[in-house]
Amino acid sequence: MLQVKNLNKSFGDNKVLDNISFEVNSGEVCVLLGKSGVGKTTILRCINGLEDFDEGEIIVDNCVMKDKSHISKNRDKIGMVFQNFNLFPHMSVLENIISAPINVLKKSKEEATKEAKEILKMVDLEDKINAYPYELSGGQCQRVAIARACALTPKILCFDEPTSALDVDSIEKVSKIIRDLKSKGMAILIITHDIGFANNIKDKIIKIGG
Ligand SMILES: Nc1ncnc2c1ncn2[C@@H]1O[C@H](COP(=O)(O)OP(=O)(O)O)[C@@H](O)[C@H]1O
Ligand SMILES: [Mg+2]
Repeated sequence: MLQVKNLNKSFGDNKVLDNISFEVNSGEVCVLLGKSGVGKTTILRCINGLEDFDEGEIIVDNCVMKDKSHISKNRDKIGMVFQNFNLFPHMSVLENIISAPINVLKKSKEEATKEAKEILKMVDLEDKINAYPYELSGGQCQRVAIARACALTPKILCFDEPTSALDVDSIEKVSKIIRDLKSKGMAILIITHDIGFANNIKDKIIKIGG
């Protein structure tokens, strides 16, 4: 589903990504494990078309992408749960989830709302549908961010350090959601420095930066 081939990227003299290659199949959880500063977030930003890369290829669902503009055109295949969740603070949970399906996928509000309710059931947040992000815990915000990404039915879902701000109970909940998504055939890419979580959730682990 996702192949990263010989990805290279420098910021000025700082070579951050040196020939990174890995692949993630449908229904597979791939963990990229590495210390702080080795370039993990940069890899996700390249995959999401937020950052240009110098050399290499990113192949998504058999489409070869050699630069950021290609990826921007295929963005709907790749979902992203950011480290700080990036929820829209002025929007309710429901509005956060239906915004892109309505504006990007041109769904009707009724259809988007119906689907949002189903996804909220999956992440166990039906009762928070009208809450605002400031009324939610970190773990709940993360599950809204997962719901928002899933509303675009991506083939690949990427997580940047999903456990970094969470307590044990929330980590267990997000692990269960990840397993559910995997069983539905989604390809999951997780970036973390949390070795315990990585071992618990992984189908395979790729070590970045030695
Ligand atoms: N936009 C940028 N401009 C310059 N340097 C950057 C930029 N983004 C990240 N870096 C540098 O790239 C390296 C890797 O960063 P990052 O991908 O955030 O690492 P990680 O997520 O593994 O902690 C760091 O040295 C960081 O300072
Ligand atoms: Mg990072």
